[in-house]
Amino acid sequence: MSDDGRLVSGGQRQNERENIALRPQFLQDIVGQDKVRENLRIIIDAAHARKEPVDHLLFYGPPGLGKTSLAHVVANEMKVNIRITSGPAIERAGDLAALLTHLKQFDILFIDEIHRLGRAVEEILYPAMEDFVLDIVIGKGPAAKNVRLNLPRFTVIGATTRLSLLAAPLRDRFGARFRMEFYDQPSMEFIINRAANMLKVEIKPEGVSEIARRSRGTPRVALRLLRRVRDYAETRAEGIITGKVAGEALSLMDIDHLGLDDTDRRILATIIQKFNGGPVGLDTVAAATSEDPATIMDVYEPYLLQLGFLDRTPRGRTATRHAYEHMGIPYDRTTDNDPQQPPLF
Ligand SMILES: Nc1ncnc2c1ncn2[C@@H]1O[C@H](COP(=O)(O)OP(=O)(O)O)[C@@H](O)[C@H]1O
Ligand SMILES: [Mg+2]
Repeated sequence: MSDDGRLVSGGQRQNERENIALRPQFLQDIVGQDKVRENLRIIIDAAHARKEPVDHLLFYGPPGLGKTSLAHVVANEMKVNIRITSGPAIERAGDLAALLTHLKQFDILFIDEIHRLGRAVEEILYPAMEDFVLDIVIGKGPAAKNVRLNLPRFTVIGATTRLSLLAAPLRDRFGARFRMEFYDQPSMEFIINRAANMLKVEIKPEGVSEIARRSRGTPRVALRLLRRVRDYAETRAEGIITGKVAGEALSLMDIDHLGLDDTDRRILATIIQKFNGGPVGLDTVAAATSEDPATIMDVYEPYLLQLGFLDRTPRGRTATRHAYEHMGIPYDRTTDNDPQQPPLF
């Protein structure tokens, strides 16, 4: 995901060089994501035992939860090379053909934002993933010839924030699909502690839990907030991140105790005040808040849904009672779209 300028966005920012040292290297370094981790352990051990590459894997879920990290972890565990590309980077079928013909036995091809692959490119990818062959056309017009090249056995690891945009045939070619979950508080605290250690930042347990609570269950957000709080602590508090210092710094950044920033609150306020709590369509919310619909859907909504502040209904988004309470707006709805009320008949 590109930079959307938000502190609490899980998307990677263009000017944010992610500290490679902070990336988990092996499965044992991954905290949280228990289901994903355990399943990967089995897949990797089995592949090792059979001396085969792992099956094609797909990671999906909101940005910043560790999809790219996991792809690297799989490569490290399998002791193979990983080549990195992304859907938008592969413009033409020829680009993919070039990538594929350079792969070596058991290499991993990591395709980020795989939902953004073009149709023509997908057509090349299907036989490559399924039969490890590359069908290309040589020449033009009546003299054109179809040629089939054999490829080495390799593994595609795909990552996407939008599983629903992936063409069904492509989805089906992945042997295993993993949904990334938001991290719980203890996992977030563990990640922040480890990062603080590596960055040599002095942080108290209350400081850790304060940052963890406001990081939307997203490691990338936690690491970003940790750096910002460290800056604050260095200039205002002798470099030590206590609970109080973390709280002050984060409030200064307009991040509330649940990790919502002013854009989140603007989205909620818009739905509640302009549209009477909804249901209101995504595009309408986007227009009313001057935000990009795709960004709302990928970045803002997942966490608001997770908190139970929003509901997605066939007729649009609705704000729940919890959202009203968080925003300090009296909940006066008696209509049918309160999900907590039983239907009238
Ligand atoms: N389970 C985890 N443990 C520790 N750090 C993590 C974990 N998952 C992600 N991170 C860190 O969060 C950041 C974002 O992870 P990344 O894999 O790039 O997310 P995604 O590809 O899903 O957007 C990275 O800096 C990474 O080091
Ligand atoms: Mg990524």
